Amino acid sequence: MPKDFAYRLRKIPPYLFAEIEEKVNRKKAEGLDIIDLGIGDPDLPTPRPLVEEVKRQLDDQENHRYPSSGGERDTRVAVAEWYGRRFGVDVDPDREVAILLGSKEGLANIARAFVNPDDHVLCPDPAYPVYAQGATLLCDAVPVKVPLRERDGFLPDVDLLPSDARMLYLNYPNNPTGATATPEFLKDAVRWCSETETILCYDNAYSEMTFDDYIAPSVLEFGREAIEFGSLSKTFNMTGYRLGYAVGDPTLIAGLKKVKSQVDSGAPKFIQKAASIALGQYNGRSRPAMVEDSVKVYKERRDVMVRGLRELGFNVTLPKGTFYLFFGIGGSSIDFANRLLDAGVVVTPGIGFGQNGEGFVRMALTQPVSRLEEALERMRKAL
Ligand SMILES: Cc1ncc(COP(=O)(O)O)c(C=O)c1O
Repeated sequence: MPKDFAYRLRKIPPYLFAEIEEKVNRKKAEGLDIIDLGIGDPDLPTPRPLVEEVKRQLDDQENHRYPSSGGERDTRVAVAEWYGRRFGVDVDPDREVAILLGSKEGLANIARAFVNPDDHVLCPDPAYPVYAQGATLLCDAVPVKVPLRERDGFLPDVDLLPSDARMLYLNYPNNPTGATATPEFLKDAVRWCSETETILCYDNAYSEMTFDDYIAPSVLEFGREAIEFGSLSKTFNMTGYRLGYAVGDPTLIAGLKKVKSQVDSGAPKFIQKAASIALGQYNGRSRPAMVEDSVKVYKERRDVMVRGLRELGFNVTLPKGTFYLFFGIGGSSIDFANRLLDAGVVVTPGIGFGQNGEGFVRMALTQPVSRLEEALERMRKAL
């Protein structure tokens, strides 16, 4: 049998994060105590009432059967109602919502629905790698870089972007930079996409993980010709449950659902039921206790780590969103990450998020304060 990957898979560069994981595992096997600030996976538990709800729903045999690939109606209604309460955006659960197996799945599958071979897709750089790779390259299309620069607050000037692209991905609060979007920026992005007939895919996976009175908007507050992706992963510490949602323009949702109907059979019903309960905790714009409790923890960690890194001489911005710190290290990000790994601290080299990430590293605040303090101490000795 042929053993070579299909050409589109061969175009995907080696996954840097897999290489890092391998190195980390080697160090662990050697007995080194590792403080892992690499992966953006919450260490906090899923709120207990949601775990109990999943257990309860598992006892109902109806939930053992195939779900609908685009999402159970009850869950779509829960997402639509949440959009109303949280963003003031009126959403039709039947035409404007799809339930996803985590937002990553939808971010990739939307391209299969609307991107043709050789189309150009505008992908921020640095960015979550799915836009350029899992979405664009796997559709035989061409990723075109949208450079995000620190001096511009990691917000691109949309009017300078090429107008011949099929699709634009944007993500705020942003992974890896922690940057947040202003209303003016989002207004511009929606206007520009409409003028240039570019499909706007807005990744709002960190909408609830924000600090210091900053409340992240939905891009749909600024116009309805877009598709927005969200997730329970970070909001409710539910990365392993794989539950996300897409909301937006009915044609974009219909295309995404059509792809999904051919490739997956939907998120497990017992998870969808718990997701409805989770979103139902919101009374309005402000976060319910089960979300606020986690955000408080991340905020304390952010403050401790930013203070400590500044004391070590790094120029670190206090991010208003996400649980990432992204800061310049004045050299090769891989060399820096390797030096820290030898000292037992895992950080992600910025180059893993694209060429423009070079010279930066990302730290995920997914360890308790005592471990962050220990990481700072190890850095002080190692650098
Ligand atoms: C910017 C961004 N979008 C989307 C995701 C995917 O999240 P999930 O598939 O768990 O919903 C992640 C995960 O880290 C992310 O950082």
